[in-house]
Amino acid sequence: MTTQVTTDNIVWHQHFIDKAARSAQKGHKPALLWFTGLSGSGKSTLAGALEAELIQRGIHTYLLDGDNVRHGLCSDLGFATADRQENLRRVGEVAKLMVDAGLVVLAAFVSPYRAERAAIRARLPEGEFIEVFVDTPLSECEERDPKGLYKKARAGEIKHFTGIDDPYEAPEQADIHLLNHGQGIEQGVAILLAQLQARGILPQG
Ligand code: ADX
Repeated sequence: MTTQVTTDNIVWHQHFIDKAARSAQKGHKPALLWFTGLSGSGKSTLAGALEAELIQRGIHTYLLDGDNVRHGLCSDLGFATADRQENLRRVGEVAKLMVDAGLVVLAAFVSPYRAERAAIRARLPEGEFIEVFVDTPLSECEERDPKGLYKKARAGEIKHFTGIDDPYEAPEQADIHLLNHGQGIEQGVAILLAQLQARGILPQG
């Protein structure tokens, strides 16, 4: 028997406290900063360093990290196309809830397909999804190989590894484009902080 999934008989309950009230309490606008790039490109490091700066400035944050989420919420998923799509759909929905809670959410996921990234953008109001392309060349990611995964992928021990035998569709027009092979983490964080100020998410300093 197949179960027909439908929202036909499910009515949205409009609660008294809404996103605006939660944001007002926090004293800043919410947003989702979506870090995309190859494994080893520096997404998590940048997101972590930025979160530390934001916390210092009194911003309410949460960091959703691909590797960590795959230990719990998405522990049933692998790296086949459909699994990655479901991984990003779930994470996109969780991130949206966190934005609804009034947080500045930092999400660090390879997220190799344009369509999945576009779908998450489309679930949020204009301006609240900020795509950050951590643009580190494959050669550099492979040289860094912090988890030894490229070595395994080259040896054929891991299949569907992004950049090796699975595609990475680079953003065509990222909101923020970080050339991470030339820039240090500090410089990347400074660019991100300036961008958040320019977008009115961080108060003018
Ligand atoms: S995504 O493609 O679904 O967005 P996600 O960001 O959650 O990927 O997970 C990527 C992390 O899982 C990488 O940083 C890497 O450490 C690890 N990983 C293990 N297998 C793969 C693979 N086949 N392709 C890419 N990353 C992999």
